[in-house]
This record gives sequence, C-alpha cells and structure tokens, in this order.
Amino acid sequence: AKNPVRVLVTGAAGQIGYALVPMIARGAMLGPDQPVILHMLDIEPAAEALNGVKMELIDAAFPLLKGVVATTDVAEACKDVNIAVMVGGFPRKEGMERKDVMSKNVSIYKAQASALEKHAAPDCKVLVVANPANTNALILKEFAPSIPEKNITCLTRLDHNRALGQISERLDAQVSDVKNVIIWGNHSSTQYPDVNHATVTTSSGENSVREIIADDNWLNSEFITTVQQRGAAIIKARKLSSALSAASSACDHIRNWVHGTPKGTWVSMGVYSDGSYGIQEGLIYSFPVTCEKGEWSIVQGLKIDEFSRAKMDTTAKELAEEKSLAYSCLN
Ligand code: NAI
Repeated sequence: AKNPVRVLVTGAAGQIGYALVPMIARGAMLGPDQPVILHMLDIEPAAEALNGVKMELIDAAFPLLKGVVATTDVAEACKDVNIAVMVGGFPRKEGMERKDVMSKNVSIYKAQASALEKHAAPDCKVLVVANPANTNALILKEFAPSIPEKNITCLTRLDHNRALGQISERLDAQVSDVKNVIIWGNHSSTQYPDVNHATVTTSSGENSVREIIADDNWLNSEFITTVQQRGAAIIKARKLSSALSAASSACDHIRNWVHGTPKGTWVSMGVYSDGSYGIQEGLIYSFPVTCEKGEWSIVQGLKIDEFSRAKMDTTAKELAEEKSLAYSCLN
C-alpha cells in the first residue's frame, strides 16, 4: 500500500474548505489509490466549526482518509505536509480600502510562508487560492526562500475551466472535447481568457475553436467578459462566492501538477514568471503549462497577436501594481 500523503487546507472551516476536504478524502485530488492525511487550519473564531468539519469527515468513513489534524496552530498544521492548499485569508468587507485588505493578507501570507518553510516536507507543493491569489502567492514565495519557486503556484484553473465551460455550452459540445484555452495573468477581472489556440474534437476530428464558432465578435467581447465576470455572477445568484467549482478546480490543479497533463493538452496555472512571452520576471502570472513528473513548464512558442498582446500586458501591469502595493504594506 502507498504511504499517505499529507495535505494541508487552510481556511478549512470556510465555504471552499467545506467543499474541498471531502473531494480530497475521496481521491479527486491525488487519485483513487492514494491514501491521505488531512491537515486543516483555521483561526480561533472558527475553531468550533472546524471541529465540526472534522467530525463530519470521521462520520463519512472515507476509506482513503488515514487521519485528520484540525488545529488553529500554524506550526502543527504545516508539520510534514506534502501539499498545501492555502484557502484562508482576509476577505474584502464593505467600505474597506484595497490597501487595508492587502495589508491583512500580506501579514497572513508572510507568517504562513515562514511556517511552511520551517515545518512542511522539503518537496512541498503549494497552491494559493485565497485572494488576491497571485500576490498572496508572491508574498509566500518571498518569505519562504528555501521552498523552490517552482513549488509555489496560484489557482487560475477555475477561470480556465470556466472558459472551457463557456465554449462547450456555446457549441453544445462535451466539455471534455474542448481543450487548450489559456488564462493569462491575474486571477481578477483583468485576466485574459484566450481561445486562439483552443480546439474542439468533433466527428470530423480536431477543429480550431475560433474557426468552428466563426463569431469573432462574440469571442473577442462577450466570451471574455463572461469569463472575467463569472465570479461576480455566481455571487449575485448564490449570495455566496463560488465554492464547489473553486474546490473542484483546486483538485484539478494539483492532480495535473502531480500526475501530469495528457499529451497535447495544457492547463493554466499561476506560476513565477521567468520572462516568457515578455512578462516581467518576479510576478506570479497565469500561463499555459504542461506538467510531467511533478513539474510544470510554460508552453513555449505560441503565436501572440496584437489583440492578445495588449490584454496580456494590461493584466501584467495590474499585477505589478499589486506587487508594489503589497511591498508598501511590508514597510
Ligand atoms: P470563507 O470566508 O468562507 O472561508 C475563509 C476561511 O479562512 C474562514 O473559515 C476564515 O476563518 C479562514 N481564515 C481567515 N484567516 C485565516 C488565517 N490567517 N489562517 C487560516 N484560516 C484563516 O471564504 P471562501 O468562500 O472559502 O473563499 C476563500 C478564499 O478563496 C477567498 O479569499 C476567496 O476570495 C478566494 N477564492 C479564490 C478563487 C480562485 O479561483 N483563486 C475562487 C473562489 C474564491
């Protein structure tokens, strides 16, 4: 039998946490034959609720679940974890300035970076979900210098999956027949959902999504804004932000990272820029990536037209601004 993998979920008493932990315990993240030990962290005001989630995990009698640690102690939560999914953070409340929210999250991610650095397994893979996801991941990277930068990522897979969903709805095709959309940039409304390289498999083989939809007007405007604004549309409908889709996409992100992407398929991940596609180094930016043997690499050589270039630069600019705002909170 395989040794259990220790998976940390921070903010585990929250909405996404409640959807995510049963998915992990059922094998949706690491596979149906991989036992797991769940580490769940939340803060003191949520301690009782967190314990309730632990009780339910026990009650669900998941065969793959070999243990549950539920704690408000960051060091205990991070001890020996192999995967860390960072969902906990400080939400923006009405009347709060961007700078105040940033400042709260910078101090949370700075502290949790140090805890992961000290206590996590040396090869720990980190996925930041909490917003501002890219910049929280960047702060985590800066304050955990001994964790390789390749091991620190943020979630844009939800946006990627939303783009696949919109294309498949429009074509009345199976979502599994659509692939290779790209989310460039920030997990925010400046992100650029790009379909220029996307394909859909039909009875006649693999077709370009742009050619088969044959409506540049829709693809260049409504499609993009729908994906960019989808989070807000969910809040409007549910009075709560996306949780099941966020949890499911977090599982997809880690599963592909650990087990690889299928041949000929890429996914979107927020990763530390090496300057690819002219995106300045030192930002956590969403790129198309393929994964193999537990490592991602940015897909190279895609042709970028002028329309895309402008949108990729706009979202990079926003990330550079977030980065300086985050740094100004440190001083
Ligand atoms: P929520 O408010 O229901 O849960 C957040 C949990 O984090 C709460 O239980 C809270 O007590 C906990 N928390 C706060 N500070 C903490 C700390 N220092 N350490 C550990 N836990 C802490 O929020 P929800 O809906 O679960 O969303 C979580 C985050 O995910 C939010 O920041 C949200 O904006 C973000 N998000 C990101 C998405 C993405 O695609 N990247 C998609 C959807 C949400």
